[in-house]
Amino acid sequence: MVKKPIVAGNWKMHKETLEGVNFVENVQSKFSSISNVTVIFSPPYTALFQIKVQSPFFKSAQNCHWEKKGAFTGEISTSMIKSSGAEYVISGHSERREFFGDTDKIVNKKNIAIIKENLKPIFCIGETLDQRESGKTQEILNYQISEGLKDIDTIDEMIIAYEPVWAIGTGMTATIEQIEETHSYIKNLIKSKYNLKDDIQVLYGGSVNPNNAKELINVSNVDGFLIGGASLDVDTFASIIKIVEDNQEKNNNG
Ligand code: PGA
Repeated sequence: MVKKPIVAGNWKMHKETLEGVNFVENVQSKFSSISNVTVIFSPPYTALFQIKVQSPFFKSAQNCHWEKKGAFTGEISTSMIKSSGAEYVISGHSERREFFGDTDKIVNKKNIAIIKENLKPIFCIGETLDQRESGKTQEILNYQISEGLKDIDTIDEMIIAYEPVWAIGTGMTATIEQIEETHSYIKNLIKSKYNLKDDIQVLYGGSVNPNNAKELINVSNVDGFLIGGASLDVDTFASIIKIVEDNQEKNNNG
């Protein structure tokens, strides 16, 4: 089965509950028939529980704790996330790594908990500008993948998001060559570790917007996007969905 391309919006710490509910209703109402793309909304927890989606629209949490329950003030478990009707959880986002101490070990525990709960991780990896400029990109990605997937046997439902840290929220996108090379490196690395029926889906993230979406979705081994800033406005987000939908329809028709 060929997996559909994914357009995922990571709202980060934006939108109050009602605003989020209305936003999702508005986006969904723009697409009465949509069949070539999977759309994922990743709101803050507060809105996550109120938002209603219908396939091919889905919900994702932005984070989770790895324990099932316990004395962890302020945290939320994967079973709680599941009870919201979400099917995905973002793990390893560079902002979590940078500001909240999510080490590769912690990201690994989260990935394990997400998969155990039958949720799908959107596992983020990416190098900093320093690391890219000193030629360490592949070494870093290899490390993040190896550590993040430690003791995990099944990754059939996992999605990887390649997000160069220097391209997040900066307006700087990676070049086509950089994305192509890195996505193919990631896919080959996964193939060398796992015997998968279908290729793992690798999303690109980092300043995706309606102006670059068409070019980026046609880069080989790009299976969709994880979008921050451009996922916060209905028309902007909807126009990226439309670009990916139309592009896929064209590809399907040969
Ligand atoms: P951006 O964020 O699209 O605003 O660069 C991407 C992300 O952080 O997932």
